[in-house]
Amino acid sequence: MRTVLSNPESLVRPEVRQLVPYLTKHMPQCLRFDANENPFPWPAGMRESLYTEELAYNRYPDGMGGDLRNALAAYTETSAEGILIGNGSDELIQLILLTFGGLGKSVIIHPPTFGMYQIYAQLTNTKVVPVPLLNGVTLDTEKMLEAAKSPEAHVIFVCNPNNPTGSLFPREDILRLVRESGKIVVVDEAYAEFSEETLISEIENYPNLVILRTFSKAFGMAGLRLGYLLGQPDTIALINRVRPPFNVNSFSQKAGILALGYLEAYQMQVQIIREETKHMQEELSQLPDVVVYPTWANFILFKPIDPDGWADKLLKRGFLVRNMGGLPVLGKCLRMSAGLPEENKGLLRAIREISTESGQ
Ligand SMILES: Cc1ncc(COP(=O)(O)O)c(C=O)c1O
Repeated sequence: MRTVLSNPESLVRPEVRQLVPYLTKHMPQCLRFDANENPFPWPAGMRESLYTEELAYNRYPDGMGGDLRNALAAYTETSAEGILIGNGSDELIQLILLTFGGLGKSVIIHPPTFGMYQIYAQLTNTKVVPVPLLNGVTLDTEKMLEAAKSPEAHVIFVCNPNNPTGSLFPREDILRLVRESGKIVVVDEAYAEFSEETLISEIENYPNLVILRTFSKAFGMAGLRLGYLLGQPDTIALINRVRPPFNVNSFSQKAGILALGYLEAYQMQVQIIREETKHMQEELSQLPDVVVYPTWANFILFKPIDPDGWADKLLKRGFLVRNMGGLPVLGKCLRMSAGLPEENKGLLRAIREISTESGQ
């Protein structure tokens, strides 16, 4: 039989050919301030409860995640029919674009913002229309509404608080987008437990408003990949059409249900993280020649004169912060999340040393 040698790359979809894989750093030897996670261990007793659960791992999980959705309905004070669970909120971003995006459609984003909107837009063949934040921090509502007039525009992503800037946008501005665009407005509230701002109560008023949430941040479950989407039941039912049937495993579903029973303990962690973030922000602001952006999340974006040099020097001292490279509008910046109080002290000490060394 004749073998035909084919070059797999020649068979790749054009939109994948241009794609650069999302680089994640795995450096367990470093203290990590790079991924906006909750640095605390789970509330006392939760891990033990999860491990003693009798889960039937030989069976598929509950595809609809019924118990978890009921628990989430109580937590968010909404109805279970208006909730969709995902393998991290990342997966839900993809499902939203598979439902409403695609060839000939566009999605409006406000750079600098969370990188996965653009990546999933590319993957789903959806055109990206960037409307940059004014000064890198303020939502340009007028321009976004202008862009939304295009019949191609189907989806608008608003990240609130915004990753990586930490900015919180006025509720009224977002609601204007919802009311006046007539398009699907996705408000990504991954950090809402820290900002204590949410548009959940507005869902009942607008079928085009969907809210993205995650267990990866305040709930400290980034490793279990669990996110959820809130919207009116009819809108959620549309997105449910493209969801893989067993997208969230049984273990993560159970962990999510358990976590919602430890809200008081999480609230205490969130309070400490908020205080630590504020303290770090104040300390950074005292350094000469460092621009610090106001934050409502558990991380801080800042801009020393030599961000690359600072990132390297911090890494040599064992602290991993996120080098944001060249952000649209803001250029090179660093982002660091709040760690445990002792870890933050060490990081701030290192930052002060580097600032003094570099004459900054
Ligand atoms: C704004 C925002 N949305 C979504 C995500 C993804 O979260 P998940 O871990 O639920 O996929 C992140 C993670 O960094 C984020 O910052």
